[in-house]
Amino acid sequence: MRDNKHIFICANQKPEGKACCGEQRGQEILEKFREILKEKGLNGKIRAQKSGCLDACKHGPVLVIYPEGTYYKNVQVSDVERIIESHILQDQVVTDLELSWED
Ligand code: FES
Repeated sequence: MRDNKHIFICANQKPEGKACCGEQRGQEILEKFREILKEKGLNGKIRAQKSGCLDACKHGPVLVIYPEGTYYKNVQVSDVERIIESHILQDQVVTDLELSWED
């Protein structure tokens, strides 16, 4: 695992009816990341933060992990542990959730 990964989770809220990640869903995902990172003693090494729109609204909820710049789409709270176990701890992209910009 590379230290200092940074997870940005979109919690942008657009006006009613427009496709977006939604403040509430993004916030729930962010809280789950923080909870599991804390449980695993990864606080300080891995940062999870709320972001504004990541320009992939139709695929939301969306997040991006740096330094790789890997985007994940349609992320649910139930996917958070899998992303941490695979991408954060083993540097393995979760391919079924990865956002391809050709999508
Ligand atoms: S609102 Fe989340 S990517 Fe645009």
